[in-house]
Amino acid sequence: MSAKNDIAVVLGTRPEIIKLAGVIRNLGSRGSIHYTGQHYDDELSESFFRTFKLPAPQLLLNGISGEHRSIQISRATYQLAEHFRRVSPRLVIVQGDTNSALAGAQAANYCGIPVLHVEAGLRSNDRNMPEEINRRLVSVLADVHCAPTSWNAANLVSEGIPLYAVRVTGNTIVEATCESLPGVEESREILGKYGLCENEFILATIHRPENTDDPQRLAEIIDALCEAPIPVLFPVHPRTAESVRAFGLADRLSRIRRVPPLDYSTFLSLASHARLLISDSGGIQEECTIIKKPLVVVRRNTERPEALASGFAVRVRHRHEISEEITRILANSELARILVNRPCPFGDGKASERITEIALAVADGGALPPGERLGEFSYTCEPQVVQGGAVGRALLRSPVQRGSLAQ
Ligand code: UD1
Ligand code: UDP
Repeated sequence: MSAKNDIAVVLGTRPEIIKLAGVIRNLGSRGSIHYTGQHYDDELSESFFRTFKLPAPQLLLNGISGEHRSIQISRATYQLAEHFRRVSPRLVIVQGDTNSALAGAQAANYCGIPVLHVEAGLRSNDRNMPEEINRRLVSVLADVHCAPTSWNAANLVSEGIPLYAVRVTGNTIVEATCESLPGVEESREILGKYGLCENEFILATIHRPENTDDPQRLAEIIDALCEAPIPVLFPVHPRTAESVRAFGLADRLSRIRRVPPLDYSTFLSLASHARLLISDSGGIQEECTIIKKPLVVVRRNTERPEALASGFAVRVRHRHEISEEITRILANSELARILVNRPCPFGDGKASERITEIALAVADGGALPPGERLGEFSYTCEPQVVQGGAVGRALLRSPVQRGSLAQ
């Protein structure tokens, strides 16, 4: 028999709120929000609860924000496990690869509660990324793996996760984006507020440790942004703001237009009216394929080769490469027309529905719903998954890891 609040959803950062909002809403009274507080500034947390009209968390953890990774994970695991032992949820849902997701998965598993992992199977194969370690550990702990794409599913299967526990659902970012994009009138107002003209500016975000924690790299990226021939709007993540202060780069950065992190609708509106995007964000690699904008990914690798393979993104690392890509994209008058007709590789906007159905089935002790055919491959317990894996691995080895736009 189902009970109120018997499915615990653990989250703690901006992208998790965005990507779990649809599932939380669909779960209705069955779901309960457990917020770790990893992100705590209004503009990275409550602003997103408001955008998606989410209820207040039923559990809010203490002492997580701004702490070292080891402290965040251990404190959150401890507090969540204490709570789970008291209230015994039937299922715990975690999303992605953050410290909060790993803590949620550990706490649930240690308490004998099944774990459903949303956005499972992404792999950068870069052990220097905290997120790569987190997502691999969550895969070990999870009982049900909702993979956004067939490549993600194939990664899981190739690591020995049983086929019956993997479902390809699409990525929930598709519905989050479609739901949150403002209309024409509101977008015009937003452009006006920031003094920007449609298609005549670049929107940039940078927050990954590989770019923010090394002064030389951060300076290189800032210099490349400063060299752009059209205005750059740069919403500054708190991690980046801290590094800019600590490394004395504020003067250099003052040559481009900085703003605090933007609310989701404003960000999407600006992104969809920009000429191009520059970012190291995971979510923006997905969103660019939905809003059909070119993206320069500033990273040494990516766990989302789909955005590169489908021609929306190009991955670069060094200052001259960033500048070259900006020049190339601005000179390509055909690109916008080509991208507009490209399909999004991250699903059809029904991922939250599928994940909710799976979650309810698991919580109620039933069998997993059968997989569906999405796109090129079948993602059920059939050998095609292995074929998807072969393609996926080939993509990772091939130049697609760098990508080139709209080929
Ligand atoms: C985390 C995730 C990352 C995700 C990102 C989304 C991990 C390992 N990393 O990185 O995968 O892409 O969130 O944005 O979980 N800070 C504030 N205010 C806040 C939040 C953070 O000032 O509301 C500061 C903290 O004090 C800290 C720094 O930003 O010094 C980094 O925060 P943290 O949550 O540790 O990691 P992120 O870099 O945000
Ligand atoms: N985003 C936002 N406001 C901003 C910058 C980003 O709403 O000022 C959104 C963006 O659209 C994306 C999400 O935040 O959906 C990504 O978060 P982030 O880049 O912090 O994390 P990642 O996806 O890299 O884990």
